[in-house]
Amino acid sequence: MTDVVLSISGLCKSYDDVVAVDELDFEISKGQCFGLLGPNGAGKSTTLGMLEGMEEPTSGSVRYFGKPFPADYQDRVGIQFQATALQDFLSPFDNLKLFSSFYDDPIPMDRLIDQFRLNDFLHRDARRLSGGQRQRLLLALALVHNPEIVFLDEPTTGLDPRSRRDLWDVVSQLKADGRTLILTTHYMEEAEVLCDELLILSHGKTLLQGAPKKLIKEAGVSDLDTLFLSLTGEPLVKTQEVIE
Ligand SMILES: Nc1ncnc2c1ncn2[C@@H]1O[C@H](COP(=O)(O)OP(=O)(O)OP(=O)(O)O)[C@@H](O)[C@H]1O
Ligand SMILES: [Mg+2]
Repeated sequence: MTDVVLSISGLCKSYDDVVAVDELDFEISKGQCFGLLGPNGAGKSTTLGMLEGMEEPTSGSVRYFGKPFPADYQDRVGIQFQATALQDFLSPFDNLKLFSSFYDDPIPMDRLIDQFRLNDFLHRDARRLSGGQRQRLLLALALVHNPEIVFLDEPTTGLDPRSRRDLWDVVSQLKADGRTLILTTHYMEEAEVLCDELLILSHGKTLLQGAPKKLIKEAGVSDLDTLFLSLTGEPLVKTQEVIE
């Protein structure tokens, strides 16, 4: 039997006239890489915000091992912030030092520097990092306090194919460490490679849930892109921006 870390039931979030998340029910097991997949505006980030304990649901609940969030929940989760969270005038080294200073028992910096291969640009101005380098630094910063659950909101959007694969390797390592990973993505290929379980969202609702291979097999399609297109009549990714 697997341990359920997060159980989500009847989860809804509305903003004025927008229903961003509409009655979601799912569970996330310990050690799983769980993916939220869907086009722009599907409700992925809003859902993530509620699982992180950063946003209050309008109705429904998120329970941690069957209970409301404990007082120290924020210490148990690591959130890969967007690039704006970086202290731009600091180098990756100084950013790491700053984040480490927030915690009593941080992971030794050397370990993070090795694991995320920050050495080549450790003392560079953070404004001069490439997209892939920045994402690796942001991931290292999310892990400083050795969290059980790691949240990644579109970790590879805007990266070129090589940097994307490079980040996949890093995410796979986190999975091998036994952490629970929850990520959002627009990319079906990424979901197929990284995720054990997928929730495909459209307009705040669940379209499908299951293991990527199982979803593909049951639908009798060649890949998840084709599946999404067949379900919604629209492609998942309309444009692909590359910033690097
Ligand atoms: N703070 C907010 N105030 C009002 N509406 C919001 C707010 N945050 C999100 N929304 C709306 O909720 C819906 C879901 O947004 P959300 O950011 O969760 O989508 P997403 O799946 O993460 O999209 P993307 O792929 O573009 O990041 C959208 O219609 C969005 O405009
Ligand atoms: Mg989003």
